[in-house]
Amino acid sequence: MATLMDSKSAGFKFSAKLGATRAILRAFGVFGDPFTRLLQGQEDPYPLYAKVRQRGPVHRSHLGTWVTGSHELGTRILRDRTLFLNREQGGVPGHEMMAEIPWNSSILGLDPPDHTRLRRLAQPAFGPRMISKYRVQVEKLCNGLLDELSTRDGFDLIEDFAGPLPLLVIGELLGVPEEYHDRFIRAGRKVGPVIDGVKSLKMARDFRGAVDDLDQVFTELIELRAKDPGDDLISRLTVANEEGKLSTEELLAFCTVLAVTGFETTTNLIGNAVLAMTGDRAQWDLLREDPDLAPRAVEETLRYDSPALQAQRVPHGDIALAGHHIRANSSVVVLIGAANRDPEVYDDPDRFDLTRENPAEHLSFSGGIHYCIGAPLARMEGETALRVLAERLPDLRVAGPVVRRSSPVISGCTRLPVSGTPG
Ligand code: HEM
Repeated sequence: MATLMDSKSAGFKFSAKLGATRAILRAFGVFGDPFTRLLQGQEDPYPLYAKVRQRGPVHRSHLGTWVTGSHELGTRILRDRTLFLNREQGGVPGHEMMAEIPWNSSILGLDPPDHTRLRRLAQPAFGPRMISKYRVQVEKLCNGLLDELSTRDGFDLIEDFAGPLPLLVIGELLGVPEEYHDRFIRAGRKVGPVIDGVKSLKMARDFRGAVDDLDQVFTELIELRAKDPGDDLISRLTVANEEGKLSTEELLAFCTVLAVTGFETTTNLIGNAVLAMTGDRAQWDLLREDPDLAPRAVEETLRYDSPALQAQRVPHGDIALAGHHIRANSSVVVLIGAANRDPEVYDDPDRFDLTRENPAEHLSFSGGIHYCIGAPLARMEGETALRVLAERLPDLRVAGPVVRRSSPVISGCTRLPVSGTPG
């Protein structure tokens, strides 16, 4: 009974907080603050990004957050060693609604020296040797997924291809054995969308349940790998755990965070690439005629429609940014999507152009010490997926209503119906 009352009261508090947050965002949005309007979620945030850039290199939003859409300043902020992820007293700013995620003990929520320690332990799993080992497997997985669709005329690119692929790849990376696949994929699919933010009580409950399921899967796998180690990330981190180099809490948090960061982002990279190129047939034709352009297609997609739209930092002391005085512990947000279309860096930035000379200067993988550790893997997955799609589905077209996420932090589609039968 007490538990039921506790959970009802927690639910009420959560709903009240969610309602209050929405009301604040609506109120400031009405006053024309572009950052506040972005936080409400927009299907097409790019016109608002242009408004942010018009306010100068950095400005203070009505919510008190400092915001930049400048490529030059954004790069500087992300590389600046005097800016951190956490406030001095701890906690990831702006993630209060996502308290259920174990960010704070994960690599994504830690500052040095803990961040440096964890990053060093994980880095070899994302190195060139491992990436070339996975390339063959990823190609096999892509072809396997398309083979399953070869009797259908049309399918949903997200549901049937771009969604399952990164889950299977992270399963390989972590060393999830076949008998665990169903549980892992079921929980992973529920955890991933939370990167958008927890939007309802039901979502918070589902998410908590999915994190518990993943924790259970990973706890069993850690026990398994302790007895029978392999050439996978869980084995490597389990050894480090036994040697006292990372705690069990950090080990579990790391595995969960990979599930959150690695699934949705890579799915959206593939979906956004197909959407952009099939929307401008000449671009798709370039890829179809020369599948070796796949790496360029990946970089231009990351620039033009980045799956990750924001990164946040906090100075621990007062600092100056572009002539503004920024007080200690203020939030500074880099709008990655805005920086990637900064006309100071890119000609005709709102155009998707496979032949662009400098697509890879984007900030989609962030910068500095938190530069995405999974970038080589995401790039390789994206390139392989696009190459296989161009070869086996040269006439690929969007064939129905596309449903886009309207999230301030992640860009992608939840539905992308396409026509064609894989050859
Ligand atoms: C297109 C796909 C991806 C995009 C756009 C992306 C984007 C990002 C961004 C922007 C950050 C830095 C956040 C910050 O600076 O605060 C980041 C960090 C991270 N990403 Fe990715 N990511 C992608 C794929 C992946 C994959 C496939 C994995 C793992 C399998 C992964 C794992 C991580 C981890 C562990 C971090 C934290 C690194 C650190 O703090 O040192 N990401 N990612």
